Amino acid sequence: MSGKLELASMATAPETDPAFVPEHRRQSAAVRERFARLYQRPVTLEIAGLTKSFEAGGGIVTALQDVSFRAHRRELICVIGPSGCGKSTLGRIVAGLDEPTGGSVRVDGEEVDGPCPNRGMVFQGYTLFPWRTVLGNVMFGLEVSGLSDTAAEQQAMPWVEMVGLARFATSYPYQLSGGMKQRVAIARALATNPRLLIMDEPFAALDAQTRAQMQDYLLQIWRQVDVTILFVTHDLDEAVFLADRIVVMGAHPGRVLEIVEVPVPRPREVAHFESPLFVATKKHLEKLIHHERPKDTDRLPIVRMTQVGDDVE
Ligand SMILES: Nc1ncnc2c1ncn2[C@@H]1O[C@H](COP(=O)(O)OP(=O)(O)OP(=O)(O)O)[C@@H](O)[C@H]1O
Ligand SMILES: [Mg+2]
Repeated sequence: MSGKLELASMATAPETDPAFVPEHRRQSAAVRERFARLYQRPVTLEIAGLTKSFEAGGGIVTALQDVSFRAHRRELICVIGPSGCGKSTLGRIVAGLDEPTGGSVRVDGEEVDGPCPNRGMVFQGYTLFPWRTVLGNVMFGLEVSGLSDTAAEQQAMPWVEMVGLARFATSYPYQLSGGMKQRVAIARALATNPRLLIMDEPFAALDAQTRAQMQDYLLQIWRQVDVTILFVTHDLDEAVFLADRIVVMGAHPGRVLEIVEVPVPRPREVAHFESPLFVATKKHLEKLIHHERPKDTDRLPIVRMTQVGDDVE
């Protein structure tokens, strides 16, 4: 059976399938209403027929093939998929840091053709300026946009407060924990009032507990700000916990397999991780991604490097 046919049969799986996630119109009244409101909002991000190829090792790598989707104003949309499926490439193109080979990206109707303050970005690595204080880091984009020091400080301080770091405004990055650094990075990205916040695995380097806390902080911040979030992750729990919808991608070539409407109610809480809807959504994602995993690369071509006869397993 072709991949497409198999995926189509999964989409119409019976409701007894533990990985069956009905579309929003067949969910509870609260979920139906939430998605109806979401789809009524204007489109902030429109990605149409996006393609990106790289020349590498004498061949061509198709990092993205005909990727199309839209995100509505104040939507939190996650992108998941296996390593190498083009998630970061997609984020970089939307940020204007990379040029597509074909297709287009529009933010609030305007074609993206380079970096612009209407798009903020937070990466996995800590990207704060080590020579600037917390407040100085958050002021950076405002200074670049031409504000005086005083005006930049006045606009930056509420963001420092919003991420709970007012007491650390004069601290330097080396004095902060990983989670605190990423909170500064979020404040810095939001301080210029972007329409779109692009986050590429921003919590991947954090320990599990800090990561869970950051996910909760992000939802708290997002509720209070008029910003659309494109959040790249390969952590399925993180995607289901955060997203309104999840764009599931497959690799080689990087393409969209399915866009899943997350039925888990909002506001999201840790207790939801155990709920049947959460578990079903995660199973559905696992099924889509597992279906994609190349079987022949699961085993490494390892030769035995020891003569010790006592086997470890
Ligand atoms: N500058 C580049 N030159 C050549 N090939 C590239 C370049 N950037 C990305 N690629 C290739 O494009 C594909 C997608 O890469 P990308 O980094 O977007 O994947 P990803 O989904 O973010 O992976 P990960 O989950 O490991 O971060 C990969 O095959 C990668 O090798
Ligand atoms: Mg990546």
